[in-house]
Amino acid sequence: MHFTILRFDRIDSTNNEAIKQAKLGADEGLCIVANEQTAGRGRYGRAWVSEKGAGLYFSVVLRPRIESRFLPLITLMTGIVVADSLFEFGLKPDIKWVNDILVNGKKISGILAETVETDLGLAVVVGIGINLKSSNFPAEISDNATSLEDEGGNRVSVDDLLETLTRFFGYFYTILCETDGPTAIIDEWRRRSSYYSGKSVRVVLGNEVVTGVTCGIEENGALRVRTADGEIRKIQAGDVEQLRQISAD
Ligand code: BTN
Repeated sequence: MHFTILRFDRIDSTNNEAIKQAKLGADEGLCIVANEQTAGRGRYGRAWVSEKGAGLYFSVVLRPRIESRFLPLITLMTGIVVADSLFEFGLKPDIKWVNDILVNGKKISGILAETVETDLGLAVVVGIGINLKSSNFPAEISDNATSLEDEGGNRVSVDDLLETLTRFFGYFYTILCETDGPTAIIDEWRRRSSYYSGKSVRVVLGNEVVTGVTCGIEENGALRVRTADGEIRKIQAGDVEQLRQISAD
């Protein structure tokens, strides 16, 4: 896969720009990188704090030739890419289903994959935000967020991070698009995430709350959760929180 990088000093959202470029016919591998986003977006329309120089704000255009039922695996694959990139810089990341990369239990990175219809067929834009500095975290996220600077990775330059991310992206995306790629990606994800099985979780699905213990991933990336009555719920979307174990003494 060939990557072409378009850099912006300031932009509303690198995902918005990548969607625009995909509609204009951009090739797979076009990357948008910005020093600052004025309207950085997270899942469910939440804001992604994107101050100048405080994070890596990156989006890539994909034109995946995989069955549509496997499209959600692009987010899981990207989690592997970010986890391995951070590991290369000395961190010990965990992946919380579906798109949060944690270090020491705190979120260091988020992934937002969006699909867009274009004249060349369906495109997927994958946005990655990685916190480089924590100094300006707003109060509401400061307890649950961390950064490369806080975790001892402050000597990492944006260019080193980009080179590493695109290298792992090319590697794992090629695997995903192979015949047995979806199974291989789930297996790689399992090896990097403590959420794959045996984790007590609470999942918020709109108005419903599901609690239970994780027990694997479906072939389309859905998280399996076994509830107290033994039912297996297949979670396609929603926010997952780890439930703290209450000790008996
Ligand atoms: C999340 O955890 O909710 C996903 C956050 C994704 C943030 C990145 S930053 C680069 C790209 N541009 C955006 O507007 N969002 C993504």
